Parts: sequence; C-alpha cells; structure tokens
Amino acid sequence: MNTKPIALGFNIDHIINIRQARLTPYPDIVDVVESVEQAGADAITLHLREDRRHIQDSDVDAVREHCKTRMNLEMAATDEMTQIALKIQPEDCCIVPEKREELTTEGGLDVVGAFERIKNCTQTLTTNNIKVSLFIEPNIEHIKRAVDMGAPVIELHTGHYANYHGDEQSKELEQIAKAADFAHAQGIQVNAGHGLDNINTLAIAALPEIVELNIGHYLVARSVFVGLKQAIEEMKAIFVQARK
Ligand code: PXP
Repeated sequence: MNTKPIALGFNIDHIINIRQARLTPYPDIVDVVESVEQAGADAITLHLREDRRHIQDSDVDAVREHCKTRMNLEMAATDEMTQIALKIQPEDCCIVPEKREELTTEGGLDVVGAFERIKNCTQTLTTNNIKVSLFIEPNIEHIKRAVDMGAPVIELHTGHYANYHGDEQSKELEQIAKAADFAHAQGIQVNAGHGLDNINTLAIAALPEIVELNIGHYLVARSVFVGLKQAIEEMKAIFVQARK
C-alpha cells in the first residue's frame, strides 16, 4: 500500500467563482495559484466547463504558466476539451461528466454508455503523456470499464457519501472501500473527491489505497475564517490522523 502521505489537489474553481460573480479583475488567477501552492497544496485542480461558468480559457493558460506543483485539468470527454488539453499539456487530466444545468458535477462518468468516447479521449491524452484519471462511481463494473479503457488512474466519486448520513453513508463508504481495493488490485492509482470536508474526509483518507484527494468547496469556505494556509494544514492533519 501507499506509504507516501496523501496528496491534496486543491480545486480552485470556487475561488474563481468570486471573481466571476462580479466580473472583477480580482482575485487574480496568478495570485490564486501562488497562494494555494505556498499554503501547501500538492496540485492545482481546475475544471474548464463547457459553459465557462467559473474557470476561463485564460485561467487555464495562466495556471499552466505559473503552476509549480502539478496541474490537474478536469474536463469533459469532448473534442474541444481534448484539443485544449493537448495544447496546454497539464500533467494530469481528470475526465468528468458534464451537464449544463447541474450545480456541480453530480455523479461519475457513464463508462458503459459513453465507453467509446471516453476511451478515445483517454487514449489520445495518454499517448500525449498526460496522466488520465476517470471520475467514476464506486462500482466494480465501472472500474472494469476503466481498465478496458487503459486509464492509469481513477478518481472515486465521494459526492453521494458526503450527502448521505447514518447507515446510508456507511453503506456508501463500504462501496468506496471495495472499489478502492479492487482498482488497486488491477494496478490502477486510486484518487477520490467531491463533497469532502473536515468531518467526512477522515474515513476516506483512512482507505489505504487512496493516493490523492481533490477538495475545493470546503477548503475555500474554511479559508474565509482561518486563511488558506491553516485550512490546508488542518486538512493535511486529517490525512495524517487517518493513516495512524
Ligand atoms: N473532484 C472532481 C472530479 C470534481 O468535479 C470536483 C468539483 O469540481 C471536486 C473533486 C471537488 O469537489 P468539492 O468542491 O465538493 O470539494
């Protein structure tokens, strides 16, 4: 299993949401990247959505230019996004589903129905030295499809787990644990993310296969009160506590 500490990918979309709410020049994207990295994030995660509701194309260029850790570009498996990724060359790409009307990414990829499209995108990016992660539900059949597509990494969707309570949450956690174990046995790197906060992250970080967690909304909200550095330190302390 992994002996390295869990990496934190900081999703900056919600910082940029503040700028887009008023179309101000602040917060400046370069300041965002530098501050988040100085505060201790291991990767900059950003989602260029088809509707450009937060991250803009110019932000993607700026992150590429100023990111000193790792750039993890979340994108839909479309021709437009594939061309952008090939031009930008992020270290990592996380392929996510996208519906225009959704508030946020609401579930994992349809790796069965959209198999060919996602596979083509995965292979094109992989051939061009981009490490591809597929954002999927904690479902063994879906992991098998990710293996068939040749994806080196999956990101398990923790959104349902985060929204559930009590028994429902425990059952979902069990599914995530089984999925992580199965994927790891197939030689796939296991990341996870969505809806993680100071309470629900502990059990996910305790899963021994987890290599990276991508977290945004909670960390941005927490930073308002304690600053980026402390918010990130607190989250990393949870990662460490979970592995003790
Ligand atoms: N991982 C993926 C694939 C996502 O789409 C998102 C949200 O953009 C996150 C992680 C982070 O989710 P949250 O903002 O709820 O922490």
